[in-house]
Amino acid sequence: ENRPIVIQGAMDVETQFMISKLADVEELTMGGWRFFKGTLEGYPVVIAKTEVGMTNAAASTVLAIETFNPSAIINQGTSGGHDPKLHRYDIVLGTTSVNFGNFRTEHGDAGKGVKPEKWIPMTLTINVKGEPKEFQDFKGDSHLLKVAENTAGTYKNGKVVKGVIGSADQWNRELDRIDWIHATYKTSAEEMETASAAQVAEAYGVPFLGIRILSNSEIHDEGFDPKAGVYCQEYVLNVVKKLIR
Ligand code: 5AD
Repeated sequence: ENRPIVIQGAMDVETQFMISKLADVEELTMGGWRFFKGTLEGYPVVIAKTEVGMTNAAASTVLAIETFNPSAIINQGTSGGHDPKLHRYDIVLGTTSVNFGNFRTEHGDAGKGVKPEKWIPMTLTINVKGEPKEFQDFKGDSHLLKVAENTAGTYKNGKVVKGVIGSADQWNRELDRIDWIHATYKTSAEEMETASAAQVAEAYGVPFLGIRILSNSEIHDEGFDPKAGVYCQEYVLNVVKKLIR
């Protein structure tokens, strides 16, 4: 029997289309997290509704790995553009994902103010096979990335690029802040789950890829469009069909 592929999405606009395309769907709830187990062209697939944010994403990923023993995890959904070259509906395949909410600061005297542009990015440590390992970011699996790249020809609503997916419990709309994050981390887009799920997948040694569509770009005054959530799900299902054939 094949190990399932887990596809994660935070919100209904990022999961419902895919759930509607599965056969024999069985719904499971564990704690606050829901999973939709079914088949795609006869192959086992689990859609995980992670809910929004880093903690939700981590919890959902642990539950998915412990429960379903997946062969791969794809985290997908909407995001906001950080790269001026990208527009709404463009898709970013995550060569890496990075937690851009992880900082220390130098000492600052009382009354001297708060200067986010001076904050210093920190690394994250997780145990991999019993050994503590330090990470600046998390790499997308090279095979998953190749297959996702080879799917680009099917996509008609925008560009498909490789890039850095930035994650934090933040929604940034200040252009100077976006520019600082982009310059510091080379982020193509920001969202609130990928690097957290990637961190958990890394600890378990499960192949992982982030696929994020721009649903908004503050830089170009392009507001959130939920249609982007469906476009991304269509793309991801095409990737998964390629993977399982
Ligand atoms: N900034 C942060 N999160 C965003 N999302 C879409 N666009 C952005 C953005 N510009 C996604 C997050 C989260 C939800 C609020 O939407 O991943 O799940």
